Amino acid sequence: MDGLSERPFRSLVRKMGSAMSYTEFINAIDVMISIQRVQKKIAYHEFERPVTFQIFDDDPDRILHAARQLIPFHPDIIDLNLGCSARHVASRGAGAGLLPHPHKVAEILRNLVKNLTVPVTAKIRLGWDDHNRNYLDIARIVEDCGAQLIAVHGRTKAQGYTGQADWDAIAKIKSMLHIPVIANGDVQTVADIHRIQNHTGCDGVMIGRAALFNPWIFSYRDRWEVSQTEVKSWIDAHLNEMIAFHGIEEGLILFRKYLKRLLAPYQIESKDLLPLLTVSELDIFKNHLDLLFKTALTQKS
Ligand SMILES: Cc1cc2nc3c(=O)[nH]c(=O)nc-3n(C[C@H](O)[C@H](O)[C@H](O)COP(=O)(O)O)c2cc1C
Repeated sequence: MDGLSERPFRSLVRKMGSAMSYTEFINAIDVMISIQRVQKKIAYHEFERPVTFQIFDDDPDRILHAARQLIPFHPDIIDLNLGCSARHVASRGAGAGLLPHPHKVAEILRNLVKNLTVPVTAKIRLGWDDHNRNYLDIARIVEDCGAQLIAVHGRTKAQGYTGQADWDAIAKIKSMLHIPVIANGDVQTVADIHRIQNHTGCDGVMIGRAALFNPWIFSYRDRWEVSQTEVKSWIDAHLNEMIAFHGIEEGLILFRKYLKRLLAPYQIESKDLLPLLTVSELDIFKNHLDLLFKTALTQKS
């Protein structure tokens, strides 16, 4: 997830039991300008393998060029993003903005498959909007062009993150294709993992937002089963990794995004939460955090 799943988070959830890692999506234009721009996004630990580098752009040549530049960093898979709904991506014809252009999708994928030595995969949404749900066409193209796996977020671009993911549509894709299908969208609990598997017949399940407030989901544990002591240990470990990866100042600032989500299940007054989300001195942050966990935190019902 863009801005949220760099190496510290990915490697920790990998240890927790996730099956594979996708990098945050990588703008092909950034790679063209300088590989340094994406160096942090493509950093991974060997134990994270299989590691997927995900690329987005709207230009077939640029995407191939970027993929070639990324190959020396030894990804196991190159993935094409056909799912991002963010305006600055989709409205320039990249991410989900490619869905209305099946010929271009085919050209990009054929180009990648023909020229790369690693497997190529794709992550899609169901279409641009309710009137243009062309996911069966796109899924067929993905397979016919030689991609070896497809991940499907069961929403259209227009939906963004609203409404409910359509697992029936994912089931239709699964029943039509021969390549593995990863189902994605609205998996929040362990029961949801089993439900989406049963509903779609998928070969794998992708978990996005829920992993941020419950990384234990990769060990098949719901958040209510996780003790406060474990939450505190996770926060300490994640913060340490963030600081080792980004340095103290940036690591602490970027960690706030995760912390907010990890603490969301607790009822914390804003006077207690605010210092944690604003302080920039590590010692003070740690003192606040220790104090917070020493007081009785109550779970929201
Ligand atoms: C902040 C944020 C960033 C995301 N970045 C990416 C991305 O870089 N690549 C991608 O394929 N999907 C990205 N997604 C979409 C998720 O991978 C996933 O498809 C979506 O959140 C639905 O799954 P969920 O209900 O499990 O969260 C992002 C989602 C969020 C909320």
